[in-house]
Amino acid sequence: MADTISFLLDGKVQIIDFSRQSHLKPTTTVLQYLRDLPGHKGVKEGCAEGDCGACTVVLAEPDKEGGLSYKAVNSCLLFLPKLHGKQLITVENLQDGNGNLHPLQKTLAEQNGSQCGFCTPGIVMSLFGHYKSGASAERDEIEDTLSGNLCRCTGYQPILESAQLTLTDVHSDHFSAEQEETRAVLNAISKDSLTLKTETQVYYLPTYLNELLRLRSKYPQALLVNGSTDAALRVTKNHELLPAIIDSSNVRELKEVQASGGKLRFGSGVTINELLELTKERFPAVSKMCKTFGSKQIRHLATVGGNLGSASPIGDLAPVFLACDARITVQSVNGLRKIRMNDFITGYRQTALRPDEIIRSVELPLIKPSVLIGAYKISKRYDLDIATVSAGFRVELDGDEIVQNCIAAYGGMAAVTSRAIKAESFLNGKKWKRETVEQTLPLIRESFTPISDARSGAEYRSVVAGNLLLKFYLDTQNK
Ligand SMILES: Cc1cc2nc3c(=O)[nH]c(=O)nc-3n(C[C@H](O)[C@H](O)[C@H](O)COP(=O)(O)OP(=O)(O)OC[C@H]3O[C@@H](n4cnc5c(N)ncnc54)[C@H](O)[C@@H]3O)c2cc1C
Ligand code: FES
Ligand code: FES
Repeated sequence: MADTISFLLDGKVQIIDFSRQSHLKPTTTVLQYLRDLPGHKGVKEGCAEGDCGACTVVLAEPDKEGGLSYKAVNSCLLFLPKLHGKQLITVENLQDGNGNLHPLQKTLAEQNGSQCGFCTPGIVMSLFGHYKSGASAERDEIEDTLSGNLCRCTGYQPILESAQLTLTDVHSDHFSAEQEETRAVLNAISKDSLTLKTETQVYYLPTYLNELLRLRSKYPQALLVNGSTDAALRVTKNHELLPAIIDSSNVRELKEVQASGGKLRFGSGVTINELLELTKERFPAVSKMCKTFGSKQIRHLATVGGNLGSASPIGDLAPVFLACDARITVQSVNGLRKIRMNDFITGYRQTALRPDEIIRSVELPLIKPSVLIGAYKISKRYDLDIATVSAGFRVELDGDEIVQNCIAAYGGMAAVTSRAIKAESFLNGKKWKRETVEQTLPLIRESFTPISDARSGAEYRSVVAGNLLLKFYLDTQNK
């Protein structure tokens, strides 16, 4: 296994040897690294926890179509090894060799899209990721792209208008002209697995699944990560030294997707943005949940495996996966096991995983036309917020609209994602009509003893939990 990382920055391959560069650790964030360089002070630290977007940079890597894929990410959540084999692009790289501003920068300046300028590099980089991905100039698409970027003084109108102007008139930029050369440089960087060691830390970055499973079995105490959006906060907020990390984000087998006969199976390394696209047609409730998940920068990093693995009571995927009756495949060196989503979360931040196992993939079974699924997330604001209450519902209706196999799963109501079993039993065998649903609401409230916290009071949670079932009913009537 190699022990250095290589990536492209400022037109040159940069090599970091952690055993020699003592000021850098494998868990040094890309933000910290860039701020220490003389020519990259455009990247800013606002919150250091993925909430403000001031630290946004873009990562480019070769795609399957012979081009490059560009993704805006929060550099405050990115450990240095995640740069291996990629191009790191900061706001300083956008102007061309003659010193001309990138069209996005030029229009933003001309349209008065910047005042104090603290947020501007992050906003430009989010828009640059959007520009290079060929996404549309529709207002809601641009708003979604900027959902992870706060601006305190300009006001968003001129920013949105300048983005629309540039994106409706996309020309090639110097990155397009250099694409072939960039691909060749990135493809020449070895994709071998890495072991990065310092005196206090070891960071494994395996390329293949069998290596990952061996590492998991040999070092069960090491922290397994994928996108690291949860794990990075332990470093940036709690200032923990993580002594051993196994990073599964380069394992291709964990990104595999198979769709057949109405079923969908995807690897645990699939990101939330990828899941959003994959489920749009056949599992719209899942896609809808992904849309309100964090911001685009977070969704580019955060994975399905990380969301389920963290077993957070307010994780967005668990309620809707319960409603879809998802099956989780877990794997160790000793083989595979399938666990129903219903049995996967066993306690507060605990799962049915054994110490040597990883989440390999998730399967969403075929949804028959007689089955209705809905997913809802209530939070203080629509974008980039964690759920106060979330819910995933499923009812199967026979020809007489009689409910069978009801699932009413909730996040934010207890220490674990939980089902309102009494309410489900009451609804099963009854007609799917408003009156029955209203009779169910007290049973939902009785099923939980939610807490009051900074996000809401317990009473609010109880009322909302019931109202969400009513909303689900009304939504099924509007189809
Ligand atoms: C600003 C911000 C906004 C966020 N918004 C949301 C949101 O809207 N909704 C939401 O649900 N979450 C949100 N999160 C939390 C987090 O992004 C998600 O839980 C995400 O899906 C975690 O994925 P990851 O790959 O980054 O996990 P990581 O941080 O890499 O890992 C998280 C946990 O999962 C375990 N794990 C990772 N991969 C596997 C695997 N293959 N097998 C077994 N265990 C594994 C790890 O050991 C670790 O304990 C947010 C986080 C931040 C910082
Ligand atoms: S510093 Fe705020 S998102 Fe990174
Ligand atoms: S221009 Fe001041 S924060 Fe955006």
